[in-house]
Amino acid sequence: MATIAIYSLKGGVGKTTLAVNLAWCAAARSARRTLLWDLDPQAASTFLLGGDSAGRHPAQSIFSKDVAAARLIRRTAFERLELLPADTSLRGLDHLFHALDKKKRLSKLLDDLSEDYDRILLDCPPGLTDTSEQVIRAADLIVVPVVPSPLSRRAFDEVATHLVQRGAKVPLMPVHAMVDRRRKLHLEALAQDADWPVIPMASQIEAVAVRRSPIGTFAPRSEGARAFANLWQTIERAIVPGIQAA
Ligand SMILES: Nc1ncnc2c1ncn2[C@@H]1O[C@H](COP(=O)(O)OP(=O)(O)OP(=O)(O)O)[C@@H](O)[C@H]1O
Ligand SMILES: [Mg+2]
Repeated sequence: MATIAIYSLKGGVGKTTLAVNLAWCAAARSARRTLLWDLDPQAASTFLLGGDSAGRHPAQSIFSKDVAAARLIRRTAFERLELLPADTSLRGLDHLFHALDKKKRLSKLLDDLSEDYDRILLDCPPGLTDTSEQVIRAADLIVVPVVPSPLSRRAFDEVATHLVQRGAKVPLMPVHAMVDRRRKLHLEALAQDADWPVIPMASQIEAVAVRRSPIGTFAPRSEGARAFANLWQTIERAIVPGIQAA
């Protein structure tokens, strides 16, 4: 099992969109048993995958009451793709992690799920918080969407520096996100980091939120769908060194 976190210090940069579409690629294109774990109280991934928060246990009970994660996990409309939904109870997650003082809580919970899944993707809330510290300890790879703008780039550099300072070994995979090749600033950012994968700004990617379905299901040959498929292959190669992506 490999855990891939989709994380950024900044909000609104395309984390959830990446998480949902990459999770679908893992399940549908690479035939991996995949879990998307929504850690954000906004519950956007949960909404996009058709989940609701009407379960018997609030999402935070996994951390606060030792309710087994498996009891909250649901199927989605897509084969091999399951969802661990979020709800507003996760608003208190930072405080809870802080109070628990167990730095590997998330990591241990992921270990418990490792028999049942090949890939677990974490849709993370923005910020450099106790939750992100748990994510940094738990993930095998952290994918960071970076919109081509100085502030977004600065936020990425800050995260990279933070990881170095605390001696974290987890690799970061920055991704140019929401790229509009008609803009000079975007082209300059692409040229500066030519080896980063690229996700274009596209109305069909935006439509994922309207259709509440991954782009691969309704526009499989679109530029956006191909970009997510390519990025997923890059991720597979990064987490399984030397093995060609499925
Ligand atoms: N490549 C893209 N092209 C067009 N629209 C996009 C793209 N990526 C994301 N969006 C849109 O941008 C908005 C923000 O995206 P998203 O919710 O994925 O960001 P986020 O980083 O998860 O935000 P938050 O920090 O609030 O969790 C959404 O309306 C989404 O549909
Ligand atoms: Mg989000």
